[in-house]
Amino acid sequence: MIKKNGTVYRLNTPNTTLVLQADTAQILYYGARLPAGDSFAAVAPLGRCFFSAPGTDDYTEYSVLLEYADGSFASRFAFTRAKVYAEKPELPDLPASYGEGKTLELRYTDAAEKVSLYILCTVFEDSDVIAVSARVANNSRKPLRVRRLMSAQFDFAGTGYEIVTFNGTWGRERHKTERRIGRGIFVNDSKRGASSHERNPFLLLKGTETYGFNLVYSGNHKEIVECNEAGRTRVLAGINDFMFDWTLPAGESFCAPEAVVCCAPDEDALSARMHAFVAEHIVRGKWKRRERPVLFNNWEGTYFDFDAEKIEAMAREAAALGAELFVLDDGWFGHRNDDTSSLGDWADNEEKTGGGLAALAERVRAQGLAFGVWMEPEMISEDSDLYRAHPNFAMKIPGREPFRWRNQLMLNLADERVQNFVVRAVSDVISRSGAAYVKWDYNRGMTDCWGKGVAGGEYFHRYMLGLYRVLRRVQKRFPAVLFEGCASGGGRFDLGMLCFFPQIWTSDDTDARERIAIQAGTSYAYPQSTMGAHVSACPNHQTGNGNPLSARFNVACGGVLGYELDPCALSAAEKGEIAEQIAFYKENRKLLQFGQQYRLEGENAAGYITVAKDRSAAVAAVNALSFSPAEPPVTVRLKGLDPAAVYEVRVRGKETAFTATGALLMSAEIALPLPDAVQAMRENSGGLRSVMLLLKRVRA
Ligand code: DGJ
Repeated sequence: MIKKNGTVYRLNTPNTTLVLQADTAQILYYGARLPAGDSFAAVAPLGRCFFSAPGTDDYTEYSVLLEYADGSFASRFAFTRAKVYAEKPELPDLPASYGEGKTLELRYTDAAEKVSLYILCTVFEDSDVIAVSARVANNSRKPLRVRRLMSAQFDFAGTGYEIVTFNGTWGRERHKTERRIGRGIFVNDSKRGASSHERNPFLLLKGTETYGFNLVYSGNHKEIVECNEAGRTRVLAGINDFMFDWTLPAGESFCAPEAVVCCAPDEDALSARMHAFVAEHIVRGKWKRRERPVLFNNWEGTYFDFDAEKIEAMAREAAALGAELFVLDDGWFGHRNDDTSSLGDWADNEEKTGGGLAALAERVRAQGLAFGVWMEPEMISEDSDLYRAHPNFAMKIPGREPFRWRNQLMLNLADERVQNFVVRAVSDVISRSGAAYVKWDYNRGMTDCWGKGVAGGEYFHRYMLGLYRVLRRVQKRFPAVLFEGCASGGGRFDLGMLCFFPQIWTSDDTDARERIAIQAGTSYAYPQSTMGAHVSACPNHQTGNGNPLSARFNVACGGVLGYELDPCALSAAEKGEIAEQIAFYKENRKLLQFGQQYRLEGENAAGYITVAKDRSAAVAAVNALSFSPAEPPVTVRLKGLDPAAVYEVRVRGKETAFTATGALLMSAEIALPLPDAVQAMRENSGGLRSVMLLLKRVRA
């Protein structure tokens, strides 16, 4: 809801209130919902603004930096107009949130330069989220250069905030990292051309309230938190201005990607709101609310070493275990038997596919499974027919040896001809194989950024616009196909990608113990229905650790379940256990994929609980983080239950159960009936001790 009183705009969601003073561009309040009636005269604005530019006495990091034709940088934007739209306007060329949401548009103009700055705020009432974006319109007769245009600026009173980011690297994505910066500047950014494994664009600012910021963008991003001398904390989020310099011709506009902002009393409430927002206003299309299939992927089972007989045998076993989709990963095309060749040649490797991809897909479908296929459409190998025919399709700088990464180069998606090639290549693979699923991989960072006719400072963003154009076209053609994003695991896990891919491969690290932190970190901003999570072989291929099959399953149920191993190599007992797991998962899939998930942390314990929307049932999976002799009981408090209801609690796989009120389960330390440590050690060489609790409401 947006309410106006003079030039003061109050943006209400059921649980939050944001108050903007349009004429002075000030944030009067952002926090828990306030009753109507306040005039805000009592609030000291402290110069807290929602945009800033050089040219005034505000020297804190700017949200807008424009360089004018005469070489000057000063802008002085004065309020000129406010407009409220009943429906959210689209952002040209960029992915963005969608759905019902009233939008406030505020316009500011620099009279000297004839330039307008638009700030848009959309209120999503169902999730307490506000989507913010910024646009610069050059109404003058001369070009100008956009050197920085942040999507959102939020100034907060005080400097004692804690900053939480979700950082890592390949195989260790989105680990939660907390710090206080005191006075000074903190930057969280990516310069890799993708949102990155290293620094997810999601950031929390924690004070009395918890604020979350995220970006609907998949390229270079930058979040700045500056605590200045005047006792104010500024948060900026947007495209990274690293190597960014956008020429804006007279009469044209530049639109920054959308940022999303949320305020909540604590981290759990913030995550719940972000989850609701992502599920309702980011993920779209046929798979938005649809239960996702249980898949088997051959990557860790075979890597590049397979033939049609092997794939058919794996599919047969997978089907017998209850799987619904078989995904043929890397290595089915060109002459690709390792990572040195064939990217870009999406022609079938006749030998490995036993007469073509279509024929192999049929053999998989004959087992009763849907067929899915891996592609890495944005890449090119130098050893490929594509490269030999079109070396200029590659992203490289003339006269300079390109930087090789995983033996491959990137395609120059800033070029329309290359975009057309990628759309054709992907469409052809889907059409000829009848694939119901595509894993869209991306396995290197950008280095030699150059494209004929593209200004260097525009390259990164033009690449992203090209990629988004390709994705829009492909998805328009194949609306029923389920796309799973991937970037060497979770190197591009962001809201931009989620506008196209309902789920993303969370990490190449499939070790259940490692996945606890990776999935928990990811869950701060993204719901479990977006997180691919697979059970893989033991010992684990990334770490060499051994974990019991039940523990691997318990952890993988915290995301969208899949298996990534050779089912032909399983023992009869393992097959029996996996068949039971899949049957259980299917029975509880709606709850597990679309229920409300909370992180659980206890004394030496971590896991999650996923609660049905009506709180009638829940599944909790909790793991002991370590084992030491004579250890104290491993305990946890559950979350999200109905405090007044009585629940029956049963350990999966055991008959015995106890009953307790939701209130008790959420406020007392519940001892975890973990598998016996000594026995678990003997059986699994020191594996993860994990327990899954099944809760059923027996009395409301
Ligand atoms: C990286 C992905 O994250 C893996 O799952 C796998 O698809 C490989 N690429 C294949 O090259």
